[in-house]
Amino acid sequence: MVLGVTGGIAAYKSIQLARDLTRLGAEVQVVLTRSAQKFVAPLTFEGVTGRPTLTDLFSAEGAALHIRLGREADVICVAPATADFLARAAQGRADDLLCTTLLATRAPVVLCPAMNDKMFSHRQVQANLEHVHTELGYSVEGPVAGALAVGEGEGPGRMIEPSQIVQAIGRALGRSPDFTGRRVLLTAGPTQEPIDPVRYVGNRSSGRMGYALAEAAWRRGAEVTLVSGPSSLDAPYGVSIVRVGTAVEMDRAVRDVIAKMDVSIFAAAVADFRPTDPKGSKVKRAASPEGLAVHLEENPDIAKGSRDVRKPGSIAVGFALETDDLIENARGKLERKGLDLVVANDATEDGAGFGTDTNVVTIVRPDGSTEPLPLQSKAEVAEEILDRVGALLADRSGG
Ligand code: C5P
Repeated sequence: MVLGVTGGIAAYKSIQLARDLTRLGAEVQVVLTRSAQKFVAPLTFEGVTGRPTLTDLFSAEGAALHIRLGREADVICVAPATADFLARAAQGRADDLLCTTLLATRAPVVLCPAMNDKMFSHRQVQANLEHVHTELGYSVEGPVAGALAVGEGEGPGRMIEPSQIVQAIGRALGRSPDFTGRRVLLTAGPTQEPIDPVRYVGNRSSGRMGYALAEAAWRRGAEVTLVSGPSSLDAPYGVSIVRVGTAVEMDRAVRDVIAKMDVSIFAAAVADFRPTDPKGSKVKRAASPEGLAVHLEENPDIAKGSRDVRKPGSIAVGFALETDDLIENARGKLERKGLDLVVANDATEDGAGFGTDTNVVTIVRPDGSTEPLPLQSKAEVAEEILDRVGALLADRSGG
């Protein structure tokens, strides 16, 4: 890939970006503009990518350098993209190596603007952005509001973080026709059912499987909504997140959006029961010398309850975490909850279930067939699940 760096203070973050991309296995060819070199040195990028940094349109590398870069790149990312660079890109100027390479490529282009918030909101900058996005098809990621080099901006101006840029590059490379423009809903994480204002009934779900699915669906080009119970994980970039606490809240959040969804994946570990009568103030030990009895009542089954309100022809996927009779139980869930696939895992197996980075799952289908998958990271399991969902989507749309 080509990583273009233009002259803004956010260029220091692009060193981390170049390093992260290189460690992920990308061949990162850095191109610095003249003003970028006032902020960061070519040698710094050489150190993290292991490749010479390019700066000149006319150099010892040969006259047609921009043609070779444009042809060989699978993706081009410009981070940070300054106001001046956006103006030149919008005009199709060819006055330096980076802009000329943009004209010479047909690879996807990802731009990550960064500038003062007043500059960003200027009509000319907005017009340039609109042009590169709608006319040239470049994706524009960020900027976001937050601390700027000079004080705190009132509006967006700050470049998105390197880890988010990595995700955006992943989407530029990973779009699939099965998912592009599709709406995908995920439920993830545990739910917490209050006993009193400080205590709850919950479970050990971390949310990792659902978050990995949300990230992977977004990379494939979907519009993703993640309804998440309490989780310590960061919201995946690009995904619209709805945070909830209890099963009843999760149920409501799902019902608000489900009719529009092309795919619903129920990865949350919803508490099956909630305290019937949560106390308004903290329960005191002294007030319960004989111990504390908490009566639990049943929560709504979100997956099952959504059956009749799902978009006709949409795909629904559930999970089954069991300790006994895994496959039998999974088949029952397919039927009862009206699902197209159930991802079954055995909570007692090493490397499976809650709290781990890995999972061992078996895919169960409505025709009764089962497909066991090997031990893999949750990110890899997410890709496997989406491969199968994508095939179902393609089938249903007659593709
Ligand atoms: O019935 P069981 O809880 O084992 O089913 C698991 C599947 O159903 C998962 O996909 C889970 O997200 C979903 N579920 C739900 N609402 C519940 C219980 C489970 O959506 N109250």
